[in-house]
Amino acid sequence: MRVLVTGGAGYIGSVVSAQLLDDGHEVLVLDDLSTGHADAVPAGAALHIGSIFDAADLFAAEPIDAVMHFAAKSLVGESMQDPALYWHNNVVGTLALLDAMRSHGVVRMVFSSSAAAYGELKESPITEDAPNRPTSAYGATKLAVDLLLNDFAQCYGMGAVSLRYFNVAGALVDDERMLGERHPVETHLLPNALRAADGTGPALSLYGTDYPTIDGTCVRDYIHVVDLGRAHLAALDVCVPGQHSIINLGSGTGYSVRQVLNAIESVTGLAVPATPMPRRAGDPAVLVASNALAGRVLSWQPTLDLDRMISDAWHFHRIAHSH
Ligand code: UFG
Repeated sequence: MRVLVTGGAGYIGSVVSAQLLDDGHEVLVLDDLSTGHADAVPAGAALHIGSIFDAADLFAAEPIDAVMHFAAKSLVGESMQDPALYWHNNVVGTLALLDAMRSHGVVRMVFSSSAAAYGELKESPITEDAPNRPTSAYGATKLAVDLLLNDFAQCYGMGAVSLRYFNVAGALVDDERMLGERHPVETHLLPNALRAADGTGPALSLYGTDYPTIDGTCVRDYIHVVDLGRAHLAALDVCVPGQHSIINLGSGTGYSVRQVLNAIESVTGLAVPATPMPRRAGDPAVLVASNALAGRVLSWQPTLDLDRMISDAWHFHRIAHSH
């Protein structure tokens, strides 16, 4: 297939582009490089620098069979400082992309949704029929696109799958490629903890030690980006025109922040300096996915554990910081 990957110069989009190429697909990347990196686009993929708002030009110029849509603003904190930016980029931008697809008869989309669409829930693990009560503008925009896709499926025959990610971590590391997290503003636990461990960044701010969890720190469900990417390829095969489905992607297992820090210490052999801080606004105590639906619909299981996420992220971090 000829697949358009929006946001293919970003962390997850670049990994999925590499996996699509490995699977024999042709890949076109559309990325405005606002947060992505041109050198993250895998060799063999054609990079078009531009905005999803102008996607119609690309559809007019190139035959495209399916779209994998990653391009989005994705910082929870920033989304509460400037929600209009998030609604504009993530929702209005996606609507422009969907309209361009519709006018060019492209009916398959795999969408990068988020556990943030659920918000703060009591139930654990979280199944796809759980209520959607996002606690941030970021989460609200992901939910809005899920609703948009549902209408496009019902009314215009779109075949779409929304994948709701839990905590994505790790890197794709092989003989030719090294694709990992390189965010201009890094908010995620693993990269921040690795920087703290080797002194390339400050001590880790440990956000909240008084949660009702085993050790007082938040529990999250970490999933390796390579496992996550494989699920996207499987989702491409189940985009049925006229249908939209929402599928969680997580490992199904929760780790507390302290457990993650302990695992980092044992994998890297380095202590992670950490400073206890107040809770971060909007952080739920526990977020763990049920991945039963992904198992059934996508015939997918996660295969790479937390230690592997850490060792791959560590490998990537050391290479990235040696330049
Ligand atoms: N944490 C720290 N210090 C840091 C960074 C994170 O203690 O420097 C803690 C957080 O408080 C949280 C855990 O580590 O308990 C994981 O935090 P991340 O920022 O790595 O990930 P989140 O769980 O906050 O975010 C993830 C996705 C978001 C999504 C959100 C849904 O990255 O895209 O889940 O709640 F919106």
